[in-house]
Amino acid sequence: MVVGVLGAGTMGSGIVQVAAQNGHKVVLVDLNEQILKRSNDGLLKIMNRLVEKERITQDQADSTIANVSYSQDIHDFNECGIIIEAIVENIDVKSKVFTQLEQIAPKRCILASNTSSLSIASIGAALQDPSKIIGIHFFNPAPLMPLVEIIPAVQTSEETLNISRSLIDGWGKVTVLCKDTPGFIVNRVARPFYGEALRIYEEGIADFATIDWAMTSIGGFRMGPFTLMDYIGNDVNYTVTETVFTAFYFDPRYKPSFTQKRHSEAGYLGRKSGRGYFDYREGAANPRPIEDAVVGQQIFDRILVMLINEAVDAVFLNIGSKDEIDLAMTKGVNYPKGLLKWADEIGLENVLLKLEAMFAEYGEDRYRPSPLMRRMVKNGERFFE
Ligand code: NAI
Repeated sequence: MVVGVLGAGTMGSGIVQVAAQNGHKVVLVDLNEQILKRSNDGLLKIMNRLVEKERITQDQADSTIANVSYSQDIHDFNECGIIIEAIVENIDVKSKVFTQLEQIAPKRCILASNTSSLSIASIGAALQDPSKIIGIHFFNPAPLMPLVEIIPAVQTSEETLNISRSLIDGWGKVTVLCKDTPGFIVNRVARPFYGEALRIYEEGIADFATIDWAMTSIGGFRMGPFTLMDYIGNDVNYTVTETVFTAFYFDPRYKPSFTQKRHSEAGYLGRKSGRGYFDYREGAANPRPIEDAVVGQQIFDRILVMLINEAVDAVFLNIGSKDEIDLAMTKGVNYPKGLLKWADEIGLENVLLKLEAMFAEYGEDRYRPSPLMRRMVKNGERFFE
């Protein structure tokens, strides 16, 4: 099957590499010639590096490179069996582009979007035959991150879903099926990792370095929330939070934080601007964490129970299955453990007690426990045997 990829930026380039390494002819289209060139250069460099490290043979590198053709003309998608769109995150631009893609592509060609935050149903609405629309959401960097979220819209046919999922499974990825709801699985369930950390800071309980220390040293997360936000970019992370908050009809659980907004407004975007919550400029000294085991444990417990509550609620609302929700968080954002498995280990009743205590203390809807958690505790149930 010929694979089309529209948009040669960060995500498009990564998806092209994955498809080409898996033996597909790939057509990569971008309006911008320089970006196409940069994508081509990037692929050559990566292939060379993989050969040097003896991860692939020279023949494999050559055939991957030969599989990809570069174009500025979307008419070159005319032989594709699937086109994956990875252009700017804007519904008006995407709708226009999908209308054009439908006219150019073969009749049965699947039209997929890599969108992080738009609804697949809204993109599909641009099509005359919307049964061909689907969300195929890769994580950055696409060649390295195993997870891919597969999101059928209300219009998507069984056939589109089955072909898409088995294609991506065939590329060695871990696919999870998600409902077409804001943030899908990962960007929904992960919100408290940032939001609750910011809230803890705002209450003056601890500084950025200490909160990060608690989550990495006590919690076993690979990166602390503030380091991670600096890595993602505070502008990008803030926008995702705001989009999810708005899309959930302003559910207070997803409320964005002024701390992050102000950092973003000040241009403290993180690594890319040299400064975020931490200072990345040459010679800069960052504060050391205050390594108090009791405070650290409290910080970690608070963020973890909020994450677990979000994961439980995602099961409750059928956003994904319990297995897939745990897989998504370990394979998409490298969590040390699936959140539901973690809940079983701690005891769901202990998680509920902590949430109820916070709910009582703050009186905020943000801390309301998922009805499924209450039900399971009442019945003495666990997620896994
Ligand atoms: P990017 O800004 O790196 O690349 C977008 C590319 O699309 C640019 O090269 C631009 O020239 C091209 N483009 C824009 N309009 C076009 C058009 N009409 N026709 C052809 N090419 C066009 O963006 P990035 O980060 O790769 O994101 C792309 C999509 O993937 C977005 O929908 C984003 O939400 C989603 N996404 C991004 C992730 C990330 O971590 N960056 C992760 C998962 C999904």
